[in-house]
Amino acid sequence: MPPKNSVYIATSIDGYIADKDGGIDWLDMVSIPEGEDMGYYAFMENIDALVMGRNSFETVLGFDVDWPYTKPVFVLSNSLSVIPKSHREKAFPVSGELTEVLHMIHNRGFLRLYIDGGVTIQSFLSEDLIDELILTTIPIILGGGIPLFGDLRQRLAFEHIGTKVFADQLIQRHYRRVRQ
Ligand SMILES: NC(=O)c1ccc[n+]([C@@H]2O[C@H](COP(=O)([O-])OP(=O)(O)OC[C@H]3O[C@@H](n4cnc5c(N)ncnc54)[C@H](OP(=O)(O)O)[C@@H]3O)[C@@H](O)[C@H]2O)c1
Repeated sequence: MPPKNSVYIATSIDGYIADKDGGIDWLDMVSIPEGEDMGYYAFMENIDALVMGRNSFETVLGFDVDWPYTKPVFVLSNSLSVIPKSHREKAFPVSGELTEVLHMIHNRGFLRLYIDGGVTIQSFLSEDLIDELILTTIPIILGGGIPLFGDLRQRLAFEHIGTKVFADQLIQRHYRRVRQ
């Protein structure tokens, strides 16, 4: 099975993943039917591990819920060398060139990766390392915040796999990278 790097993320209409204060409360502004997970469970079933930026890791750590991941989480950071004791068997700090980080993760048998966090996704995109995007648009314009996308040196073409609409409000687009 070839390695694959996937993004599954929600954004505002204007393309932010968090508001100006880093808040994500707006992600839940639309009620969806009980039991509807918008494909998240199936997506998670098909990944081997997560690669997450330190900010996203710390955000998830701060949630008042049990650790939500059953797969290993590799935390990209140049400042974090120690994972809190409570999560040492679930999360692992990594740093260095992305291609080297990926090489190390692949060598450990994790090939299908969920890439998460704004800066992190942007650094993967800048090296053309994202193969799949699943983007759910929340019907709000935030006017600022943490953007999903940033400047790139080159265009990246994707093909549209499909679009789903949830609760008549949430638009989920699925794209696959097309490399010539
Ligand atoms: N809307 C959604 O579905 C969604 C999903 C995920 C996250 N979020 C939100 O997004 C925010 C976090 O995103 P973010 O853009 O601030 O950051 P992020 O990607 O989660 O974390 C950025 C940090 O990751 C590390 N990092 C990233 N790329 C690296 C690389 N190539 N090499 C080494 N370290 C690297 C750096 O940590 P060091 O500074 O330690 O070096 C960097 O400061 C949070 O507010 C979170 O709630 C929203």
